[in-house]
Amino acid sequence: MSDRIIDLSRAVPPIVERLEASLAGSLASRLNTKDAGGLLRTNRPRGTEEDRLAGAGWISQRLGFMPAIDRMIVTNGTLNILFLLLNHLVGRQGTLLTEEMTYPNMQALSGILGFKIEGIRMDRDGLDPAALAQACRANPGIKVLYTIPTLQNPTATVMPLERRMEICTVAREHDVIIIEDEAQALLLEDGPPPLSTIAPERCWYVMGLAKTVVMGMRVAYVMAPSVEDAEAIMTRFGRMSMWFVAALQAELAQVLITTGIAAEATKEIRRIATERRAIVGEILNRPALLERPGGLHVWIPTATDAEEIAAAACSAGILIRPGIQFAASPQATPAMSGLRLSFCEVRQEADLRLAVSRLAYLLR
Ligand SMILES: Cc1ncc(COP(=O)(O)O)c(C=O)c1O
Repeated sequence: MSDRIIDLSRAVPPIVERLEASLAGSLASRLNTKDAGGLLRTNRPRGTEEDRLAGAGWISQRLGFMPAIDRMIVTNGTLNILFLLLNHLVGRQGTLLTEEMTYPNMQALSGILGFKIEGIRMDRDGLDPAALAQACRANPGIKVLYTIPTLQNPTATVMPLERRMEICTVAREHDVIIIEDEAQALLLEDGPPPLSTIAPERCWYVMGLAKTVVMGMRVAYVMAPSVEDAEAIMTRFGRMSMWFVAALQAELAQVLITTGIAAEATKEIRRIATERRAIVGEILNRPALLERPGGLHVWIPTATDAEEIAAAACSAGILIRPGIQFAASPQATPAMSGLRLSFCEVRQEADLRLAVSRLAYLLR
């Protein structure tokens, strides 16, 4: 193993240096102008009206409309609401459908909450509607699909509009509820519309700030399919204050959104990520990586030896994740083989160039 590690394994946003001061200053100035004691003495189940309004404005960038604040929930990050939704909608012994490779914490959630995961086949346009329909027919008890249609984790796929419509049609036919996670979606300037605008009656829309504003914020905005759905979930869990968004975080998120700092951060993250992606595409000499718009990672298809390549890279001091680490369940081997390369954790561009050059050698 090399003595210096270059980490290409974590899909985190780059540090936006020129915004560091405004991030810190925003909260300080808000606490000076508001009754800080009052802010901290109150709990915020689902967020205050101002929190939800700021969140509705933020997600309207993707939805194209301003959701009613009664449908909004503000939570301590995406994982927090996923925990509640999966417990409420899938439950112990239930089965959750996901892409065949997905956000790895899904496996942890399935272990804690006791549900099974069935991975659905994907192609370069994302979930395969025929495979989804087949899974629904084979197990009519299935009611919930978790999906990342825009800049998928790990494949970076952006599901085209037509495919989105097909997925929504299948969900309607089989009465499946959709949890749509748009963690990185704002890194696309003109991404196709969310599923939540195509089948709003059955979609829970979730957008965290971790990937597109600042990593440790732990705030996510959620739009429920209806006011009743938003209320039902909080009636079930709402008395436990650990599910309430933390006041300071919610306040900071509100300030960053209403002052425009959050939007500026997203724009800058998008700019840096685009530059870095170009470096990766050029060094790997894989123009296909750049044919489609991207986020904080690229997917490098390999024959079948992605794990071996990742192990060799590790010995050369480069951390990169093979697709198998994202498999929906330990029993299933995904049909797509490849590596997820994330390029924004590395501070110095020279380190990125060095690591990708070594990787290019291993991929030959
Ligand atoms: C698809 C996806 N959703 C959610 C998260 C985590 O979001 P949060 O930090 O808001 O809990 C991640 C983090 O890697 C992710 O990849």
